[in-house]
Amino acid sequence: LKRIGELVQEADWKQEKHVSAIECAGAVKADEFFQVNVTVGKEIAHPNTTEHHISCISLFFLPEGEKFPYKIGRYEFNAHGASVQGPNTSSIYSHPLVTTWMKTSKPGTLFAVSICNIHGLWQSSKEIKLE
Ligand SMILES: [Fe+2]
Repeated sequence: LKRIGELVQEADWKQEKHVSAIECAGAVKADEFFQVNVTVGKEIAHPNTTEHHISCISLFFLPEGEKFPYKIGRYEFNAHGASVQGPNTSSIYSHPLVTTWMKTSKPGTLFAVSICNIHGLWQSSKEIKLE
């Protein structure tokens, strides 16, 4: 049996254009909302064309000591230049950058999974501690 986890690639976002940079405070106040920015291609831009683009980022949080992650959000990027004239003709493009907010009473780990339409699934993670 093949597991989906085996298909999720990982790398340093500073060296791999498919990996999400997760940016937020490393330590947050319990039960207070904090900002999380998630970007694909922050250091090395990923192509953004009709044929090749980032289509989605999903963000999850796994509280320390728990088994199941919680989904914080799923962010779709649907404009990649296509129009009735053909690929890369509309000049309208979405950009794979998300700002969201969340809170937690527990420390844990954020996971971002990005999806490239031709290069599959990529993950990154960031630990969150409590102040
Ligand atoms: Fe790609």
